[in-house]
Amino acid sequence: MSVKVGLIGCGSIADFHLNGYKAADAEIVHVADADETRAKARAEALNCPWSSDYHKLLADPQIDCVSVCLPNHLHREASEAAIAAGKHVLCEKTMTSNLPDAKALVAAVEASDRIFQIAYMKRFIPAMQKAKELIPRLGKLLSGTVRVYHPFGEEAWKHVGGDIWLLNKDKGGAGVIVHSGSHMLDAMRFLCGDPLSVEARCHFKKGLDYYDTAYFMMEAGFTLFFESAWLDLQNLGVRNNGWDERIEITGEKGRLEVFTMWWTRPDVEVPFVRFYSAEDGETREIYPQAKDGFIEEVLAFVNSVKEGKQGRPDVYDGYMVQAIIDAAYRSNEEGRRLPIERLSRK
Ligand SMILES: NC(=O)c1ccc[n+]([C@@H]2O[C@H](COP(=O)([O-])OP(=O)(O)OC[C@H]3O[C@@H](n4cnc5c(N)ncnc54)[C@H](O)[C@@H]3O)[C@@H](O)[C@H]2O)c1
Repeated sequence: MSVKVGLIGCGSIADFHLNGYKAADAEIVHVADADETRAKARAEALNCPWSSDYHKLLADPQIDCVSVCLPNHLHREASEAAIAAGKHVLCEKTMTSNLPDAKALVAAVEASDRIFQIAYMKRFIPAMQKAKELIPRLGKLLSGTVRVYHPFGEEAWKHVGGDIWLLNKDKGGAGVIVHSGSHMLDAMRFLCGDPLSVEARCHFKKGLDYYDTAYFMMEAGFTLFFESAWLDLQNLGVRNNGWDERIEITGEKGRLEVFTMWWTRPDVEVPFVRFYSAEDGETREIYPQAKDGFIEEVLAFVNSVKEGKQGRPDVYDGYMVQAIIDAAYRSNEEGRRLPIERLSRK
């Protein structure tokens, strides 16, 4: 029997969730959006009922699970309501827009028997999984760099126009770290574990109230440097298209680089790994099979729902990214290195 899904939030990211549910043979049985025009348009395309209040969707007893595709400051409230209604949750990133909300959501998931997956899809990209497989061959890790430069300078936002929630600190979480960097923070954790402390410098241009550049030094038993920026530089990166995103890790026995590309074009811009091994002195570029990280993420979630088994990335993974961001903001304000507040996994 196919899994029955409710879609909460019918904006831009909803398309990617719908592609995944289609691949998983799951059935969208109800959609909700406060914007009635959007909800109605999706419902017509999917031939299902719609609601402007997502609580009505949650009251639908046939629904097994929901995708929470709302602005970040609404993730906690909607996820908690979904869990209370007995639904499994696939929640968009970042998990919340502040650390107290993230802690509360961890507690709500722990107190339930529902599956909660956070939508950090980069760990599902085959190149990232290949990189994870190769990490032990680096020996003792010495240093790492995580780079996230995206071509979303001021000009890019001007074209969007209107009230852009993601540029608002309370609703969106303050810019480049949250919207571009959080995925690579999760990918970094996936590859080499959790950092223990962070010292950050975050900046915004005069006239903007969101950070468009942020740099962190992190300690994870070795030193990690994270650099992120929204720039009007259109030709940066390994494909010279403005998308300059990679993780580089150097160990005593070699170096690994993983390049991730434009997230909407996984078929034409295939993420790859460059691996140098001191064992034979060779550098290889490895192109694993091209797969859409979004589709893989939703397939994993539907599979977890079917099997009743919690997978990763879970609520603790969502929390840890939030904790890194929270410590980075506070470190920037206080001008000093701060520990990252970890939680033990129950
Ligand atoms: N995984 C990724 O790479 C990725 C990319 C883009 C966005 N996102 C995340 O997806 C989420 C949604 O982003 P988006 O780009 O789709 O935003 P969006 O603004 O396009 O869509 C959000 C939708 O939520 C609706 N909404 C707002 N408040 C509501 C409420 N109280 N009840 C019901 N509906 C409400 C809006 O009307 C809108 O249609 C965010 O958390 C964002 O960070 C993730």
